Amino acid sequence: MDSGFQIAEMSTADAAASAQMSAEAFGGPPQEAEQVTFDAGTTRWGLYQGATLAAKTVARRYESWFGGRLVPTAGVAGVAVAPEFRGTGAARTIMTHTLHRARESGAAISTLFRTAPDLYRSLGYEQVAELTYGRIPTGALSRIRRETGISVRRATVADLPAVREVYRRIGEASCGLLSRTGPSFTATDEEALATFSGITLAEGADGTVLGYASWQRGNGFGDGAAITVSDLLAVDGGAYRALLSQLGSWGSVAPELKIRTSGTDPIHWHIPGPGWNVESLQPYMLRVLDAATAVAARGWPADVAGSVLVEIDDPVCPWNSGTHRLTIGNGSAELTVGTGAGDPVRLTVTGLAVLYAGGVRVDSLRRAGLLQGGTEQGDLLLDAAFAGPVPSIRDFF
Ligand SMILES: CC(C)(COP(=O)(O)OP(=O)(O)OC[C@H]1O[C@@H](n2cnc3c(N)ncnc32)[C@H](O)[C@@H]1OP(=O)(O)O)[C@@H](O)C(=O)NCCC(=O)NCCS
Repeated sequence: MDSGFQIAEMSTADAAASAQMSAEAFGGPPQEAEQVTFDAGTTRWGLYQGATLAAKTVARRYESWFGGRLVPTAGVAGVAVAPEFRGTGAARTIMTHTLHRARESGAAISTLFRTAPDLYRSLGYEQVAELTYGRIPTGALSRIRRETGISVRRATVADLPAVREVYRRIGEASCGLLSRTGPSFTATDEEALATFSGITLAEGADGTVLGYASWQRGNGFGDGAAITVSDLLAVDGGAYRALLSQLGSWGSVAPELKIRTSGTDPIHWHIPGPGWNVESLQPYMLRVLDAATAVAARGWPADVAGSVLVEIDDPVCPWNSGTHRLTIGNGSAELTVGTGAGDPVRLTVTGLAVLYAGGVRVDSLRRAGLLQGGTEQGDLLLDAAFAGPVPSIRDFF
């Protein structure tokens, strides 16, 4: 793009211009400058022509679970270009800057919810998960029975640590869930509870919290009324069914249940009859910012050992380019300078993103043109190393 543009971190002086750009780009109501927050978890970048804000991005400090470990993540949001500056490379310029600075501040991967897949794909992101909002007739769940030994009750503030622990256990076993801790998740237990009409707990006979449903009652009753569930999570099947049964009891007043799901969500294994519909879905993309850091940061299956040559070509983040050796063993892995004989696996940047996220076989990437070369033995190792689970995400940003 033309010279005469500068990129700088936004300050509160830019809040009004940023709010106006967001409202124009995403069609929301006019925002107040005070709604543009500046905190330890958020870096706001602006591309300026003189004093005029031409484009903006937001990078949030998150951590994502992969293989039982937390990977530092730059969650990108609020990407917008003023209409008069579109089509001139402004988005590419500010996004490239955002990615480079995020890596410098320690992020190993970057993720985002997209509206313009081509733009982000050309920057090295690829779709790896979806946040899906489904709906079912509430009454369909009334046939589910609560088992003996499981009880339900309303959470109080004192229960929030147990609620967070259920989420942590599910996150730890996932590929992709955010930690919901750190500088971008600052809500106190009181604030977290106040976000919902209620959080219902499912407890075992000894009083251990085994699952929870966080829900909004919504307005009115009868036709058109719905109850909306943000998290329905449990570490035990009996607890999961108890929560579904409890939600089913709303059928007489709220005929529709809306529920946020992702990945291989267990809801599909419990719905007693037909009626599941997808209301909307938000595609989630991932980019590996620093391949060596990302490999070292995540967890790996304890029973997988071996090494494979991997060739990456990454024009946007050139430090990832070259031939590397991926060595896996004892639940850890490292990416070092690639030496030795053999045909390396050649990955596009988007192929690297999909492979890293997990749950996809090498053969699928090869058929999609995201991976070439390699050896049969290398494929077997990569399949075992990146076996999954299927990536998921339960927070929108
Ligand atoms: C989408 C948007 C950010 C693109 O900004 P831009 O400055 O025009 O984009 P650039 O000129 O830097 O284009 C970069 C690349 O993305 C592609 N691209 C741009 N806009 C696109 C769109 N709406 N859909 C798909 N691809 C797009 C371009 O073809 C270009 O590819 P190329 O470099 O290979 O030629 C801008 O149109 C905008 O602000 N739209 C409204 C808000 C929005 O959709 N934000 C994205 C939220 S996820």
